[in-house]
Amino acid sequence: MNILIIGATFGIGNALAEKYSDQCENLVLLGRTEARLAQLQKDFANKKARILTEILDVTQEEDCQKKLTSLIEKISKLDKVIYCSGYYEPDKTFEINLKLFKKTMDINFIGLINVCSVILPLFQKQRSGHLAVVSSLAGFGGLPNSSSYGPSKAAMMNYIESIKIDCDKFNIKTSIINPGFVKSRLTEKNTFDMPFLMSADKAADIIVDGLKKEKYEITFPLPMKILFKILRILPRNIYFKIVKLITKS
Ligand SMILES: NC(=O)c1ccc[n+]([C@@H]2O[C@H](COP(=O)([O-])OP(=O)(O)OC[C@H]3O[C@@H](n4cnc5c(N)ncnc54)[C@H](OP(=O)(O)O)[C@@H]3O)[C@@H](O)[C@H]2O)c1
Repeated sequence: MNILIIGATFGIGNALAEKYSDQCENLVLLGRTEARLAQLQKDFANKKARILTEILDVTQEEDCQKKLTSLIEKISKLDKVIYCSGYYEPDKTFEINLKLFKKTMDINFIGLINVCSVILPLFQKQRSGHLAVVSSLAGFGGLPNSSSYGPSKAAMMNYIESIKIDCDKFNIKTSIINPGFVKSRLTEKNTFDMPFLMSADKAADIIVDGLKKEKYEITFPLPMKILFKILRILPRNIYFKIVKLITKS
């Protein structure tokens, strides 16, 4: 099995890389931080997988496409692509930072489309492949201080739903992953209490298991999944009352 992880240098992507380093033949690890990629080469030197790394910025349209194309040429077949690149910063409703909105959308959503512009034609040609995308519970509905991040995650969810039926026709599996709070650089920015906060290692275990079962949706932890699923279908006036209460807004 050959796996490619985008955003493998830190956090959830990094923990997934560790898990898959013993479970596949070729493991391609991508991200912008050169020192981290070099460290991963060292860390996984004795693992089963051959590790290939490359500096990749998903917002650099042509460079990203070129690098992905040439990496794919190095391995005969690609079985799984996991998109973990992401950016989050809490925002303020009355002090809109346009740069933050653009950056968040560029990394979380447009970057994904850029990657898919290379990966989907390849999977279509292969008539196989598994595209897994890390979105967030924040994509299920609007949350205070998440007006830049939430819409980017909702866009990811909608995109994967939009392409799923066509992908099915070519035996391409799709998975959308919606974690709750996971310890990483992103959650370090939060000053509020994060219920059911879990380690990236635990999150990676849940994701690996879900992807093995080829689940379309991997949403966790269970209590947060139940809460967000209920919130999603509630009338909006009740939704806002509950969200105000639980976020202490
Ligand atoms: N932590 C949570 O509680 C949580 C909850 C729900 C969803 N998520 C989602 O999970 C994913 C991983 O987040 P994380 O918490 O593990 O955060 P993280 O530790 O900050 O990891 C983010 C990853 O994205 C990469 N990245 C950022 N900008 C990039 C760019 N322009 N091009 C390529 N790669 C880029 C980073 O690598 P470089 O900096 O080296 O490029 C890093 O490997 C994100 O999509 C996030 O939204 C996280």
